[in-house]
Amino acid sequence: MVRKTRETFGSRTGMLLAMAGSAIGLGNIWRFPYTLGKNGGAAFLLIYVIMLLVICLPVMISEYLIGRRGGSNPFRTFDRLAPGSKWRWMGFIAVLASACILSFYCVVGGWSVKYLDDVCSGRLMGYEGDYAQFFGSFISSPWKPLVYTMLFLGMTGLIIAFGVRKGIERMSKIMISVLFVIIVLVVIRSLSLPGAIEGVRYMFVPDFSKVTADTCIAAMGQAFFSLSIGCGTILTYASYVHKDENIAASSAWIAIFDTAFAVIAALAIIPAVYAIALMNGVDPDVSAGPGLVFITLPGVFQSMPLGGLAAVLFFLALLLAAITSAISLMEVVVAFIIEELHRSRMHAVLLSFLLCGVVGVFCSLSFGPLDGFTLFGLSVFDFFDYITSNIMLPIGGLLLAVFAGWKLKRANYLDELTNGGTLKLPHWLALSIYYLVKLVAPLAISLIFLNCILS
Ligand code: PHE
Repeated sequence: MVRKTRETFGSRTGMLLAMAGSAIGLGNIWRFPYTLGKNGGAAFLLIYVIMLLVICLPVMISEYLIGRRGGSNPFRTFDRLAPGSKWRWMGFIAVLASACILSFYCVVGGWSVKYLDDVCSGRLMGYEGDYAQFFGSFISSPWKPLVYTMLFLGMTGLIIAFGVRKGIERMSKIMISVLFVIIVLVVIRSLSLPGAIEGVRYMFVPDFSKVTADTCIAAMGQAFFSLSIGCGTILTYASYVHKDENIAASSAWIAIFDTAFAVIAALAIIPAVYAIALMNGVDPDVSAGPGLVFITLPGVFQSMPLGGLAAVLFFLALLLAAITSAISLMEVVVAFIIEELHRSRMHAVLLSFLLCGVVGVFCSLSFGPLDGFTLFGLSVFDFFDYITSNIMLPIGGLLLAVFAGWKLKRANYLDELTNGGTLKLPHWLALSIYYLVKLVAPLAISLIFLNCILS
């Protein structure tokens, strides 16, 4: 009964942009640029692309394939494909992982709402003190970040309440298109600054001396997070996709969009940071993590001509990217509540809002009043960030690969990949994807996972 009334994406472009919207997010705008810089620039990019092709893309194709074949939320999908087995609990963990990611993601999403608000009202560009203090006093306030976190989560919930086509698909289409235009404008501004070329050089001249075993691990972790694989978001979106869609081609497009966007975002940030640092005669600091976007960049915008406009566009881009990822995370929880707890979409959105909101409050307060409170030695925010990115996503990816490679029949896997043989995917390519998923991916993921627990 649930199957008959299930929604689907209205068009191929809409589906591709919704999935690209899930992938393109904070991971691309703040995490990628400094990870690239820290790990040898183009040398990292090369390793990232190899990881993407050999491990992440095959896992993504499998998550997509499992989602479309199962046609439901992660819990029910695994139950349908392996009836009565324990695999459905893997689906349940995916739902939990999405809720956990959203709980800290919405805090950073809230920071981007606050910065957009400040930059539009002139408070950010007009600030005369130190931006580290500006940021620090905001995130440690007992109530201000909570308001912005709830605002961000509320906007996310509102979009989802309109459903798959009218909410998720329509908004992703608009937001991702606007996002691309904005980021290109910011890149043009950044690259036209005198001295920007030094930043471009830093990004693209390969420095193999910085490549270590950790670089490969950093590249794979980044690819997992950035492509949104391992926690049921691709699986859930895939359950709204038509049967005649070419899974391998769509996955490849999404990976291309995501990687191109990460490189473009880095081109918007790193050359500008270099140019302004050279102008002020200081050392450019591009490996500052979250601080790069919220502390270093405001200073960069303040010093450059037309910086106010560039700042408005940049923080709008950050917010749009964060929202399109957040809706994909919340939809995993919402689909589960609708289908397993038999609630209406509206009710499911409210429940997800409450669940992630409560955990989000603790994550946000961990920068202020709950500063000294730790879980396994980590602040609440870092704890959720750590267990999801370093533990839940790699395990999720590993289990997805094992399920697709060892539990699904080879004939079924190939059948779903080629849509019963009607799609023109060369047989050797379909087989290679299958064996990458069955053998290479589980081995490689086990290695990063081991590294995460040992380090
Ligand atoms: N891919 C998103 C980003 O780059 C984050 C994300 C991870 C979204 C996992 C959904 C699932 O910011």
